[in-house]
Amino acid sequence: MSTPAPLRLGILISGRGSNMAAIAHACRERRIAAEVAVVLSERPGAQGLAIARDLDLDARAIAWPGAARRVEFERAAAAVLGEKGAQLIVLAGFMRILSGSFVAAHQGAILNIHPSLLPKYPGLHTHRRALDARDREHGATVHFVTAELDGGPRILQAKVPVLQDDTEQSLCARVQSAEHIIYPRVIGWRADGRLLWRAGSPWLDGRPLLQPLVETFDA
Ligand code: GRF
Repeated sequence: MSTPAPLRLGILISGRGSNMAAIAHACRERRIAAEVAVVLSERPGAQGLAIARDLDLDARAIAWPGAARRVEFERAAAAVLGEKGAQLIVLAGFMRILSGSFVAAHQGAILNIHPSLLPKYPGLHTHRRALDARDREHGATVHFVTAELDGGPRILQAKVPVLQDDTEQSLCARVQSAEHIIYPRVIGWRADGRLLWRAGSPWLDGRPLLQPLVETFDA
């Protein structure tokens, strides 16, 4: 029997690219049945683009012409994703909001990771907000992208403790270590055909996924 071809990923980044690197390593080490087709960024100087090139990945910058003309970015990105045969779009620290029409055109084929236990703290500065609220736990969420910002169906969450002497940096580092485990895991489920998008909702292992799965990490 022949092995099915790996799922081809188009990864969009804006910054450090640590999630992109974690996903690329999981692919390379065959921990998941996927491969990185291309890494795209709207920031030519993004550290993650250099990391991707060091990993011998096809890494490209696409100019961001401003939110009002984001359709130009999206057209160029869609052309590259199509040319590279990307089957799943993976937002990994991509700091721009995609248009409703782009999202609709790729329904069920865009994932994002957000650094909070959604629906808590959509948007920015999530670690600071968790500390200000004196939350005892915090984390990250992998979810499908819909037109609602950080509001698409949640798939898997990582819960981490908030420690008494945490700073924004220490909490961010703890959340990120967990992100590097849960994001490749979800992509692996998708690659194995376990995670599907049917009639506007996520399904896992043949059942509708009504609540996200939760994995708890120690400090
Ligand atoms: C991550 O914390 C992710 O949750 C958020 O942006 C950050 C990206 O970090 N969406 P990196 O670029 O993957 O290091």
